[in-house]
Amino acid sequence: MKDTSANTDAKRAAGAAAAELVKSGMVVGLGTGSTVAWTIKRLGERVKEEGLDFLGIATSFQAENLAIESGISLTALNQHPILDLAIDGADQVDGDLFVIKGGGAAHTREKVVSCSAKRFVIVADESKYVKKLTWPVPVEVLPFALRLVERRLMELGGKPVLRQGVRKDGPVVTDNGNFVVDTDFGVIEDPKGLAARIDPIPGVVEHGIFDNLDELFLARAGGVERIRRKR
Ligand code: 5RP
Repeated sequence: MKDTSANTDAKRAAGAAAAELVKSGMVVGLGTGSTVAWTIKRLGERVKEEGLDFLGIATSFQAENLAIESGISLTALNQHPILDLAIDGADQVDGDLFVIKGGGAAHTREKVVSCSAKRFVIVADESKYVKKLTWPVPVEVLPFALRLVERRLMELGGKPVLRQGVRKDGPVVTDNGNFVVDTDFGVIEDPKGLAARIDPIPGVVEHGIFDNLDELFLARAGGVERIRRKR
């Protein structure tokens, strides 16, 4: 969805609200995208204003750069394998808090980081919150396995499209050196079942269906609503 100014305000509101969850001493996963960028910027302000003292773990080159610019100290998963909290954006979130991520091709690291965290929070504007997921599922693929993975995704009823670069000829290459295949499955009635069928395809590095969300910070007209997982 193209950003409008209302949309930017909503992204900022959700992003900044979640930044208040961070306390000194925490290790925090920093997600990728234009919504969680507001979280990172707000955390940078809190470091300067209040002396907030925490360590971030970036999920992408973009997040890492923004954290450095914002004055946030970073660490590595290798050094801090268990995070207190991970905060990230989403492409869609459904009524049961299943999520599709990977619009920025960062979902593999985002999944590793969020699964390493005791608590996973997503920040989003209202356009992302839907009854059922319909967003094409980003699947990160080892380039060598591209044709096999495309065929298997079609056998599962998907329509895979290799993501193309912008101002770069040829496919998008992820921070991990792989391709991304955006796969339209129409309305996804059973996200967990679909995830379980994509997982074992040889050459799939990671797909963008997440089932580990704990809490959604959703910016609505009246303010930021917090929706907790019931599952
Ligand atoms: C990156 C992601 C992003 O979090 C997702 O695409 C949302 O981005 P934005 O907040 O810019 O709409 O999953 O891989």
